[in-house]
Amino acid sequence: MSDTQGDSAQTVKGVILVVLAGIVGIPLFVFLTLKLISGGMPVDTASPVMSKEAIAARIQPVGYSKLDESGPPGSRNGKSIFESICISCHGTGLAGAPKFGDAAAWGPRIAQGFGTLVDHATHGFKGMPARGGAADLTDDEVARAVAYIGNAGGAKFTEPAVKVAGAVAAGGKADPATKGKEIYDSVCVACHASGAAGAPKFGDKAAWAPRLKGGVEDAIKIATKGINAMPPKGGYSGSDEEFHAAAEYMINASK
Ligand code: HEC
Ligand code: HEC
Repeated sequence: MSDTQGDSAQTVKGVILVVLAGIVGIPLFVFLTLKLISGGMPVDTASPVMSKEAIAARIQPVGYSKLDESGPPGSRNGKSIFESICISCHGTGLAGAPKFGDAAAWGPRIAQGFGTLVDHATHGFKGMPARGGAADLTDDEVARAVAYIGNAGGAKFTEPAVKVAGAVAAGGKADPATKGKEIYDSVCVACHASGAAGAPKFGDKAAWAPRLKGGVEDAIKIATKGINAMPPKGGYSGSDEEFHAAAEYMINASK
């Protein structure tokens, strides 16, 4: 008897549990399902944090400083900077960025002038992050990238030249004071510092004067071909242009 009573008490408990589960569980299930369908989180699209610009800034790729093999910081040209950095937004027009080559989008911006565009690209402007997010770009590099993008959009900006100390710009002239000195210090110094083998000594005006009578260019021409113990280009293996710069450096110090 007591067993039967215990059983029915168990049954009652079971029924109560099922009913309770129904009362609490079903609305909870419905509520969660609705939440799932509605996205779960209220989104205020008018809020400034949800603006296109703010989103662009949040989702902008990180680790920009890994540039291509185009050269050390400071020496990169507009094209290579564009292709490694700016393209991520300006290639497609992401977040309202004026698209590369889209003259209609760039026209009014170009009208602001190169200086303003460079300023905006350097310090940031609305959705445009400062330096396109690449903090290691030099001011000149940003200006080069702006010139490159602007010109593709119809401007006629002059891309600031890439200057690297001592380097010879393509088709340009080697600088005697930098590249010339560097070559002198590594090659010519072997004979011209001491006057070895009858070489006119660096800075010795008396030794140089007779050689420069026919003009500096003639003296350099002779040295380029070689004369007596002076080997062609003093044994220097670089370009004639660079040898010329080294000779100019030495002669400038010796007349
Ligand atoms: C994260 C995305 C993003 C990257 C990367 C980016 N830009 Fe922009 N840029 C924008 C957006 C967005 C605008 C439009 C801003 C506006 O006017 O609302 C813009 C505008 C500009 C403008 C026009 C500014 C003006 O005054 O109208 C220039 C110039 C510019 N970008 C240059 C660059 C250069 C150069 C790079 C690469 C070094 C670069 N951007 C990389 C998003 C980007
Ligand atoms: C191996 C020794 C040696 C080296 C290295 C050398 N020179 Fe000379 N150079 C000489 C000698 C010796 C003369 C004088 C030749 C003569 O007139 O008999 C001379 C002469 C010259 C002259 C004068 C030519 C003339 O018209 O009289 C120039 C200019 C010159 N060298 C430039 C250079 C430059 C620039 C370098 C380095 C790139 C260099 N030399 C490296 C030995 C050297």
